[in-house]
Amino acid sequence: MKKENKSLNQLLLQKANNLKKQQINWRRHLHQYPELSNQEFETTKFIKKILSDYQIPFKKIPLETGVIAEVKGKQNGSIVAIRSDIDALPILEQTNLPFKSKNRGCMHACGHDLHMATVLGTAVLLNDLKEHLHGTVRFIFQPAEEMPPGGARPMIEAGCLDKVKMIFGMHNDPHLKTGSIGLRDGIAMASVTDFDIKVIGQGGHAARPQNAVDAIVVASEIIGALQKVVSREVDPIQPVVVTIGTINGGTARNVICDEVTLVGTARTLSKEAFKQVPKRIKQIAESIAKAHKAKIDFNLVATYPVLENDIDTNNVIRENFESLFGKNKIEVTPQVMGGEDFACYLEKTKGAMFRLGVMNKKIKADKSWHSPEFIVDEDAIPIGTATFASSALNYLYKIK
Ligand code: NI
Repeated sequence: MKKENKSLNQLLLQKANNLKKQQINWRRHLHQYPELSNQEFETTKFIKKILSDYQIPFKKIPLETGVIAEVKGKQNGSIVAIRSDIDALPILEQTNLPFKSKNRGCMHACGHDLHMATVLGTAVLLNDLKEHLHGTVRFIFQPAEEMPPGGARPMIEAGCLDKVKMIFGMHNDPHLKTGSIGLRDGIAMASVTDFDIKVIGQGGHAARPQNAVDAIVVASEIIGALQKVVSREVDPIQPVVVTIGTINGGTARNVICDEVTLVGTARTLSKEAFKQVPKRIKQIAESIAKAHKAKIDFNLVATYPVLENDIDTNNVIRENFESLFGKNKIEVTPQVMGGEDFACYLEKTKGAMFRLGVMNKKIKADKSWHSPEFIVDEDAIPIGTATFASSALNYLYKIK
C-alpha cells in the first residue's frame, strides 16, 4: 500500500474512533425499536434522518422500506457499494440491557442494528473525506434479509447495483473476538431452498382405508424418501441438508386424513446441488403420491443462492484491515450451512462479505445469533467502520 494511503488510513481510523459514541447511540436507538422483515418503516425513517442530518443524498425507490444513499467523491472514478441489512426477528428479548427492545416480541437478535450503525457511520466518515474520494460509494440499507425471498432482489431491481464495480458486506460474528475479522475466499455460506409440499388424498373412516387415500401415510413416505436425496443422490463430498420443519394434517383419531402440509428447507454449499435438489424433491414427492393415488401441490417458496466471496474483494479487505489493525487479527471463516441473501448481489457483481468479531465474554457477548440473549460488543463498530471506509476508498483510488 502506498504511503499516502497509509496516512489516510490513520486519519480514517481516528475519525472512526471519534464517531463511535454517536454510532453507539444510533445502534441503541435501533435496538430499542426493532422491526420485522418488510415492516422496517421507522427504521427506514431513522436512516433517512441521519443521512439528511449529514446532507448525504438518497434515491427515491419503489419500495416501502430500505434506503439507497450515495456519497460522491470530489474526484472522478467508479462506483462501489456497501450493504447493511435492517430487519429484526420475532424473538422476545431476554437480556438485561438498559436499551432492550421496546417492541415486545421483536428483537435485533442477529445484530443488524450494529450493521446499520456501522454502515451509517461509514457514510458519514466518507462524506467527510470527499476530497480524497475518487468516485462514488453507494450505501444499500436492505430490508428483509431474514425472510426469504429477501430484500436483496427488490433492491437490485431498484437499481442499487447499477454500474457497481465491487460490493462489500459484513456480518457480525459472536464466535470471533472483538478486534478480529473473518474472511473466506470462495463459497462461504449455503444456498437456501424453502419449499412447501401439500399432499392431497381422500378422507374417510379410519376403519375403511380401502375407500380412502391416506395423506398421512403418503406424507411419511415422502419424508423418508427425501432423506435419500441427501444420502444416495448427491456427491457425498458435497454437503446437503434437507429438513422438514413442520408437518400438519389430520383432524381426529378415527378419521383418515385427506390433506397434509410439509414445510421444509434444503441447504447446500454446492451450486450443482442447488440446481438439482429442488427438482428431485418435487419429482420424488410427485411419484410417491402417484403410486398411492394421491396428488401433490409443490410450492417453491423462496431461494437464496450459494454465497461465494470474490477473492480480489477479500484481498482488498485484507490489505486495508491489515494496514489499519495488523496482520494477526484475520481468521479464516468456516463454511456454514446458514444462508444469506447477500449472495444475490454476488451473483451479479464482484464482492465479498467479511465477519466482524463482536465476542466479549465479559459483557456476555458470546451467545449465538437468534438467541433471545444475543448481545454484541459495540467496541467492534469503529473496526467495521474503518475497514469498510478504507476498503472502499482505497479500491476506488486503485482503479481510478
Ligand atoms: Ni443476520
